[in-house]
Amino acid sequence: MSDIFSTAVVTGASRGFGRAIAAALVDAGADVVGIARGEADLAATRRDLGGRFVPMVADATDDTLAREVVHARRPGVLVLNAGAVPHMAPVQEQTWETFSRAWEVDTRHVLAWTRAALLEPLAPGSVVVSISSGAALHGSPLSGGYAGANAAIRHVRAYAAEESDRAALGIRFVTLLPQMTPTAGVGAAGVAGYAARRGVDPDTLVAEMGTVLSPGAVGAAVVDLVKNPGAAPEQAITGAGLRPVA
Ligand SMILES: NC(=O)c1ccc[n+]([C@@H]2O[C@H](COP(=O)([O-])OP(=O)(O)OC[C@H]3O[C@@H](n4cnc5c(N)ncnc54)[C@H](OP(=O)(O)O)[C@@H]3O)[C@@H](O)[C@H]2O)c1
Repeated sequence: MSDIFSTAVVTGASRGFGRAIAAALVDAGADVVGIARGEADLAATRRDLGGRFVPMVADATDDTLAREVVHARRPGVLVLNAGAVPHMAPVQEQTWETFSRAWEVDTRHVLAWTRAALLEPLAPGSVVVSISSGAALHGSPLSGGYAGANAAIRHVRAYAAEESDRAALGIRFVTLLPQMTPTAGVGAAGVAGYAARRGVDPDTLVAEMGTVLSPGAVGAAVVDLVKNPGAAPEQAITGAGLRPVA
């Protein structure tokens, strides 16, 4: 088990959940390659997490990048977390361009890196964690195609797990479905959008949500799931903790 923690790759590692996941993996003993497009946020993450965090300025949707990084680093843990902030508007105000934003970033990059993990392939015992969303279960009527894009991420996980089994690759594929939370960028936009729709301020909406999910809890959950091969492969996470998805 200690081997798989030697090298990790985290997409979208410069802010929000991704940064907290990178921090939790560094704490667990991993050298973490953290990918994002913005250099300044990555540099700040490096200052916070220290030399075990290796920043890589790149667009995670790039298929060639995915193949090259997986080949060069052969991570034991690959966390697919990068995501676009949805355009918050009712469906009649979405264009295909705004509606498909999560498909073009979240889903597209999960497909690229999942393919790379299977085609390389990663070593037996490696774990690929994709971050979907509770919206994949419940819908998200103001987020355009966000819920569908995250449902597709669940399917990609299941297809990849089957291919790993068929070829006896021993790669584990896990998906985490976080609840909306104002503590990271995507959820902050969601909370602002749903609060405006109801004509309340975001703090009122957050107070109704109960215990708020923190990025730190998401980071800890990723490490727990990686360490526990017997865990259910799909897990919802809320402020109350992890719950296997039936
Ligand atoms: N926050 C929530 O409430 C919530 C709930 C359920 C699911 N999720 C999911 O959790 C994931 C992270 O969300 P978050 O709220 O932590 O988001 P966030 O705070 O907005 O951070 C997004 C991260 O992804 C990076 N990123 C975006 N596009 C990228 C690209 N094309 N290539 C590389 N990096 C890219 C961003 O850096 P750059 O912009 O500099 O590239 C940033 O590091 C997303 O997939 C989201 O859908 C979030």
